[in-house]
Amino acid sequence: MLISHEQYIFDLNQLIELIKDLTMNAPQRDITLRFLAEPQDVNFGGKVHGGAVMKWIDLAAYACAAGWSGRYCVTAYAGGIRFVAPIHVGSLVEVEAKVIYTGNSSMHIALEVNACDPKSLNRRLTTHCIVIMVAVDQNGQSERVPQWQPQTEGDKKQHASAVKLMEMRKQIGDEMQSFVE
Ligand SMILES: CC(C)(COP(=O)(O)OP(=O)(O)OC[C@H]1O[C@@H](n2cnc3c(N)ncnc32)[C@H](O)[C@@H]1OP(=O)(O)O)[C@@H](O)C(=O)NCCC(=O)NCCS
Repeated sequence: MLISHEQYIFDLNQLIELIKDLTMNAPQRDITLRFLAEPQDVNFGGKVHGGAVMKWIDLAAYACAAGWSGRYCVTAYAGGIRFVAPIHVGSLVEVEAKVIYTGNSSMHIALEVNACDPKSLNRRLTTHCIVIMVAVDQNGQSERVPQWQPQTEGDKKQHASAVKLMEMRKQIGDEMQSFVE
């Protein structure tokens, strides 16, 4: 069957719109927040306060989990935080968050904070950790989330690591029981 040039352009435009729709509404696996570290974030030593970094991590984890699930989410767990290097006020900060495992309602998010002098862009890792977010309804009850399947070798490694960490957290939880009784 022969199609006219106009018909061809029309179909192509429809296809582009369809792809745009699909990609814009698709769950987003990762997100990066970028901003400058402000003077209000400083600690007594003149560097960015650890608490400020933890707040940025929580914000990025929330944005990532909400983007993946399309739902309101709460922080269930944050751990393994490692402050590798200090951040100076005025630095350009990048907080990268990505889903590395999904359960029924939980999303395990790996986070990395990188910072650099905005004039030189010598980006370096400053902090990394894992946060577990849970999708909840208006009553605070956990809700199912879309499943994420690892594709690349790197993804598979991080997914396996998330499973291992779950087992280790169970042991730590049992050990910590005496502090919460
Ligand atoms: C997170 C919360 C909704 C879980 O409630 P719950 O009654 O344990 O719910 P469920 O038993 O259905 O568990 C839901 C998921 O949370 C996970 N979860 C619960 N506590 C967890 C913890 N301490 N560490 C890791 N994951 C945890 C469960 O493994 C489960 O994952 P899955 O659905 O993928 O299998 C509830 O504990 C809560 O509201 N906590 C307070 C959250 C909060 O205020 N955060 C700070 C401000 S956002």
